[in-house]
Formats: sequence, C-alpha cells, structure tokens
Amino acid sequence: MDTEVDALRAVDDKPAKATRVAIIGCGGIAMMHIKLLKKIPGVTIVAGADILPAALERMKNEHGVTSLYEDYNEMLAKEGANIDAVSVCAPNGVHHAASIAASNAGKHVLCEKPMAMTVEQAQEMADAAKRNNVEFVIGFQHRFEPRSKILRDKIAAGDFGKILYVRAQALRRRGIPNWGVFGQKALQGGGPMIDIGVHIIETAHSIIGSPKPIAASGSTFTFLGDKPSTVNSPWAGWDYKTYTVEDMAVGQVRFDSGTILSVETSFVAHIEQDVFNIQIFGEKGGAIWESSQIFTDIGDYMVNVTPSFIGDWSMWDYKIQHFVDVVRGERKNEAPAEQGVSVQKILNGIYDSADAGCEVKID
Ligand SMILES: NC(=O)c1ccc[n+]([C@@H]2O[C@H](COP(=O)([O-])OP(=O)(O)OC[C@H]3O[C@@H](n4cnc5c(N)ncnc54)[C@H](O)[C@@H]3O)[C@@H](O)[C@H]2O)c1
Repeated sequence: MDTEVDALRAVDDKPAKATRVAIIGCGGIAMMHIKLLKKIPGVTIVAGADILPAALERMKNEHGVTSLYEDYNEMLAKEGANIDAVSVCAPNGVHHAASIAASNAGKHVLCEKPMAMTVEQAQEMADAAKRNNVEFVIGFQHRFEPRSKILRDKIAAGDFGKILYVRAQALRRRGIPNWGVFGQKALQGGGPMIDIGVHIIETAHSIIGSPKPIAASGSTFTFLGDKPSTVNSPWAGWDYKTYTVEDMAVGQVRFDSGTILSVETSFVAHIEQDVFNIQIFGEKGGAIWESSQIFTDIGDYMVNVTPSFIGDWSMWDYKIQHFVDVVRGERKNEAPAEQGVSVQKILNGIYDSADAGCEVKID
C-alpha cells in the first residue's frame, strides 16, 4: 500500500457502498469537490443548488447533473429521498443556514471552511448535526497533509515536550480574490483572517492537539483593498468599491494548555514573498511545518532533523475520501464540528478583540 489514502480505499473487498451527494453552491470549490467525489467508487452526484442559472448550467453540461435547483431548500424537499450527504460550497454567509437545512433533512454534511461567520452560527450548526444524528465534517484540508501528521504525531508522543508558542502565518504579497464575494464583510464575515488565516489556524490547532482557546487579542487594518490600484499583480482587478473587509489581521490566542498561538494574515502585505507556514516552539524541541524540519537536542548536541520520508498523499484526495468514509460509517471523523467551532472561536476572538481594542475572553 503506497499511501494512507490508498489504505482508506481498500477497507475490504466488498463492493463500495452507494453514496449519493448533492452540492449547495456550484462555484469554484464545488468543481474541485465534484472532480474528487467522482473518482471514488460508489459515489454519485445526484443534485445541485445555486442561485446563479449559469452555475447550474455548468453542472448540467460538465457533470451531467440534471436535478438542479435555484433554492437548496426546494432541492432538499424534492430530492431528499435520493440524497445521503450534502457538500456546502456556497459563500461563508450561507454555510449556517444551508448546513442546518441539510442536517434537519437528515443528510450528512461537508461544509467548506470557515465553518461560519460567527461562533453562535458555528455552534448552532454543530448542535443541528448532533440533534439529527448526522455527521458534520468541516472542510479543512491542511490538517490532512503528511507534514501536519508528522508534527501532530511527534507532539502527541511528547517528543517536543510542552508546546509553549506557535507562530502561524498566511501572508500574501498581493492576493485579494478577484472573484466571488470575498471582499464583502456581510457575506464573508471578514477578510484574510477568516479566509486564509482559517487554514493556517486550523492546521496549527490540529497539530498541537486542538486545545481550548480561552482568550484572544488582535488588530485589523484596511489600507489598500478599498482603493483602486494600478499596480501590476497576478490577481489584479478586485472589486474595491464593495470591499469592506480587512487587508491584514494579526492576533494572539491563549489556550487552556498554556500554549500561545500568534497569527499573521494578509491579502496584501509588503513582504518579499508569500508565506504560509507554522513554527512550533516546545520545551524539548521545535519545528518548521513548511519544511518538516525538527530542532532538538541529542545528548550534548543540538541537532536539526530532516525526515527522509513523511508519506506522500494529496490533502485534497484525503479530505474528500475521508468525508465519504465518514458518511459510510467506515472512518472516525477527523475534522468534527467541535473543532470547527474552536477554530471559529479563535477567528472571532481576534476580530472581537480588534473591535474592542483589548484582549477578550473566549467562552
Ligand atoms: N478549502 C479551500 O481551500 C477552499 C478554497 C476556495 C473556497 N473555499 C470556500 O468555499 C466557499 C465558496 O468559495 P468559491 O471560491 O467556490 O466561491 P464561488 O463564488 O466560486 O462559488 C460560490 C457559489 O455559491 C453560489 N451561491 C451563493 N449564494 C448561494 C445560495 N444561497 N444557495 C446556493 N448557492 C449559492 C454562488 O452563486 C456561486 O456559484 C467559501 O466558503 C470559501 O471559503 C474553500
């Protein structure tokens, strides 16, 4: 068996269970989900919902899906008997209502990141899944990378000792999304912190064993996205007129374990090049996530350790295969709702602190 993902697929020799998936929000990320779902034996895409007729047209033309709806509630009501699970790929502001509607209809849910726009929404989504006895998988993926697994395993084994400090960075030099509604606070909940910071936060949080966040302090800055720009960049042409989110957000979070997490995120930081990285500082060892380098002492010497092989699989294959396996009852949920809620508490704690101008407690 070459990879853990292959191992997941070869659960046994029985034919794959039939799994019927519907999509809510048939835009960019939905196409990725569909491509990967279709690779899994036994999975069919049975229906799709999107408010844009052009998106539904693409579902029909590119994926042969003919049960298409402009209203996901209508889809759930009419197609309910034919759906086992729903993938929520609509903008952040839709995650709460769509996930709860799917849970209430008795469907398992994969909800794209971030879980929601507020902690209250995220908690209600978690509660709805529990009440309806369905699985809720939050659409995080970087926790599934081999380089996340090795650090999570080492930390869980105590090899780094107590984790004192974690530095997480998701910084783009010039990368405001020029599609969708990513610049609109009312529909997204925020800018780089909630959009790309969520990735590096969920990864760091998962690597250190998902401790409970208890306080946050943060600041946000908007200085470029709300103005027209003539500067050449690969992602030029964002809609500055509707831009209401931050350009940069930084924060610090305390966990009940005593660990401190610092987070730096930006769509437009004046830096040499983009950074997407985590550094771990433990009492007995440290590490750089990006390169999988480990720093520790052996005997009387300080050593730098670079693993020769950490595994080789795609986080995206893992994410989608994991969801299907969870729906089929063949695998424990490794991205459960309660961890989505914890990450939401970190995100909103930083935003709340930025609004308040002081550290805020997290319940
Ligand atoms: N995991 C990742 O790496 C990743 C990457 C990109 C996007 N995402 C997440 O996926 C979500 C969508 O992002 P995207 O890039 O695909 O955006 P997108 O704009 O390309 O697609 C969103 C689609 O949802 C549709 N939509 C809007 N309101 C709807 C509603 N009420 N009901 C049904 N459909 C509705 C839109 O018409 C659009 O077709 C966001 O939450 C984003 O954060 C995750």
